[in-house]
Amino acid sequence: MGEDYAETTRKYVFGTWRYQKTWNPKVITGAEGARFFDADGKQYLDFSSQLVCSNLGHGNEKVKASIADQAKKLSYIAPGFTTEAAARLGKKLAEVTPGDLCKSYFSLGGAEANEAAVKIARFYTGAPKLIARFRSYHGATSAAISLTGDPRRHYAPLTPGVVHAPDCYCYRCPFGLEYPGCGIRCAEYIREIIEMEGAGNVAAVFLEPIVGSNGILVPPDEYMPMLRSICDETGTLLVADEVMTGFGRTGEWFCVNHWGVVPDIMTLAKGISSAYIPLSATIVRKPIADHFEGDNLFCHGQTYANHPLACAAGLAAIEEYERLGLIIRAEKMGAILGKRLRELMDDHPSVGNVRGKGLFWGVEPVKDRETKEPFATRRQRFQPTVLSKMASEALGRGVYVMTVLNTMIVAPPLIVTEEEIDEGVSVLDEVLRIADAECK
Ligand SMILES: Cc1ncc(COP(=O)(O)O)c(C=O)c1O
Repeated sequence: MGEDYAETTRKYVFGTWRYQKTWNPKVITGAEGARFFDADGKQYLDFSSQLVCSNLGHGNEKVKASIADQAKKLSYIAPGFTTEAAARLGKKLAEVTPGDLCKSYFSLGGAEANEAAVKIARFYTGAPKLIARFRSYHGATSAAISLTGDPRRHYAPLTPGVVHAPDCYCYRCPFGLEYPGCGIRCAEYIREIIEMEGAGNVAAVFLEPIVGSNGILVPPDEYMPMLRSICDETGTLLVADEVMTGFGRTGEWFCVNHWGVVPDIMTLAKGISSAYIPLSATIVRKPIADHFEGDNLFCHGQTYANHPLACAAGLAAIEEYERLGLIIRAEKMGAILGKRLRELMDDHPSVGNVRGKGLFWGVEPVKDRETKEPFATRRQRFQPTVLSKMASEALGRGVYVMTVLNTMIVAPPLIVTEEEIDEGVSVLDEVLRIADAECK
């Protein structure tokens, strides 16, 4: 018998976002395509791309080779120098992102990308305040967790200046209205908040174009264009956090492309390197880039900014999305996945709502379809719930699916096949019986 790495991990390493005593991690030894394997040789279908980040699937040869080649040449150099990898990734991102988004700051994760966006928005506008929404997650670091509206922000003192706005959540409209008669009140209300906070005091509105871990909330088509106009009319920057939704996840290169909206700043992570190596980017439009060309100091940086290994992996990942045609594939396979998930409503009284785009879907079970009573309240964010029980049952049956509070997040790698979609959905079909049994 070798060393028990689960036990050693439990002793020496913190588990994230959890009570430590409940952590009993599986030891994972390998992964290939849409599957990963544990130390006992059991296989799991990755139905959430880990944390919605392994967009290319596992074991991609080109990305692995790009990291190895870069490591042989140069693993690290201070960010005051540059490399072919950083230069080419910067140029490539300017090409694949919409409009005049053109200049990037490279860091290591989504939170860092948002921290940089906060600083840039404040430097550029000179305004202190920021607007974000309640059902949102923007990262664990100081400014990013302050932007975040979900219960993870309740456990630390926050940085001042963030005002939270109501969500665009049609299934449970915070205004009690119904689309399309609502006139998209949730967007209009953000104009009201900007006015009340004092136009000129608000640097930026931060939002996930489709909300990710807070429920896969897909806005109606009018929402993002309306917010773009509101921001333009009030002199406020629009920051799209595309950390989860970027790089084909929703069936477009970037989620904002669905609505032809160009944000002033876009933050990217996860799919940018398909998680092979930590990498993130904060990309800005030309007027913001130009602002820093003169006497305005770009007062931000990190030891690992523009890291050569990360930039090489990012470039290779983007080239793989192109070479394998994965953006179009996500749209095509997403239509199949969405249809299969919607069909679950026929057999399961617990399935209240199914929503998504591309390969980014949320299934929201409820105790009662009429009253929409949820299985868990926000206060139960870190407690075992009916949904976490369903996820662990699914894992036992060989399918990994991420659940957050009341939503199952179904987001397989963009390389997923129709057979794998069928396999994953059939396990969800089985475990939904757990929720059905709790229905009123
Ligand atoms: C939309 C969004 N923004 C930011 C983050 C934070 O990214 P990271 O965990 O890489 O810091 C996440 C993480 O899940 C996210 O989903």
